[in-house]
Amino acid sequence: MQPSQRANQITPSATLAVATKAAQLRAEGVDVIGFGAGEPDFPTPPHVCAAAKEALDRGATNYAKPASGIPEAKAAVIEKFRRENDLQYAPDEVIVTLGGKEALALAFMALLDPGDEVLLPVPYWVSFPEQIGLAGGKVVPLTPSRSDFRLTPEEIGAALTPRTKIFVFNSPSNPGGFAYTPDEVREIAAALADRDIMVFSDEMYDRLRYGDRREHLSFANAGDGWRDKTLTFNAASKSHSMTGWRLGYAAGPNWLIKAMAKIQSHTTSGAVNFAQYGLVAALTGDQSHVEEMRQAFEQRGTHMAARLNALAGVSCLQPSGAFYCFPDVSGAFGKLGVSNSTDFCAKVLEDAHVALVPGGAFGMDTHVRLSFATGMAKIDAGLDRLEKLLGKV
Ligand SMILES: Cc1ncc(COP(=O)(O)O)c(C=O)c1O
Repeated sequence: MQPSQRANQITPSATLAVATKAAQLRAEGVDVIGFGAGEPDFPTPPHVCAAAKEALDRGATNYAKPASGIPEAKAAVIEKFRRENDLQYAPDEVIVTLGGKEALALAFMALLDPGDEVLLPVPYWVSFPEQIGLAGGKVVPLTPSRSDFRLTPEEIGAALTPRTKIFVFNSPSNPGGFAYTPDEVREIAAALADRDIMVFSDEMYDRLRYGDRREHLSFANAGDGWRDKTLTFNAASKSHSMTGWRLGYAAGPNWLIKAMAKIQSHTTSGAVNFAQYGLVAALTGDQSHVEEMRQAFEQRGTHMAARLNALAGVSCLQPSGAFYCFPDVSGAFGKLGVSNSTDFCAKVLEDAHVALVPGGAFGMDTHVRLSFATGMAKIDAGLDRLEKLLGKV
């Protein structure tokens, strides 16, 4: 016996080798500074925890009904989209899932047939290609010509083929740490007009935007017709520091949400019942924690990018969204005697005891990802080590 072709087609995570090595070094007593974690270092707000605890004490421990989300959670999701994204949805146009990840996986499974193409901007979130492949789709990676990662409407228009079924849009971006402006979103939407495609808009980081890119426009709001041709994905994970709660959601046309819910009912039976009351509190209760985190991330990101740009052979954009720096480190490959991001990260881990994520996992082998969802002291300690290893410009 052996695992299925489906399981075998999944690429072992390129990040795993570095993570395993980091864990091994730590077990040996080495003080490793990690910039890998894609999760806020803030606690979940107390009022969110209290709501879930109350639900638990009340006995909300049976199956969530319906599996696609309890009515209170769907109402909270509808309220979030109305209040923050100026989008109106009915309960049968939303689904609550086990993290944003389940929503995306269900959607690819519900829409793709074998051979359908998915246009995927590079750099991409690490799970996109795997989820598309598992659903039988064909990934068509689209690498931007500009060094700031932002695709032009012309580049996107030129990459479409008659087989393109989905365009994946992720702004603010993991791992790119950048965000499109509302005008840019409208221009991209215009380039896709008249095409029989769906847009999967991953807006997990919509509330974590910085500098002159604070304003978020949902793709579904990018012009006539896009509301019904866009599936919008979000989660409590990043904005409300709830990664371990596994609470995500999506909104879009009823025919697709219904298809997703059918698959969900036979795979996970949906998000955890009492946890969904935490989602209600997060989306409809006091929001001050979101802005507190956002301000801290902005400060940290600005600082981290400045320090990265001071390193020899490293070039980093000022982050405008999410909580990642994604610098080009290819100018430092020679100094470390390496020729790709995986070897670069392995060498940095070995010599400086700093754990980074290789950009190859996101489709860009010249770059590495550092999360700044971590304290300033740790950021400085890690950057001090990198400075010692690579030197200053
Ligand atoms: C772009 C993007 N989409 C989806 C997800 C999945 O989020 P969740 O943890 O809610 O499943 C992540 C998490 O890292 C992400 O960065």
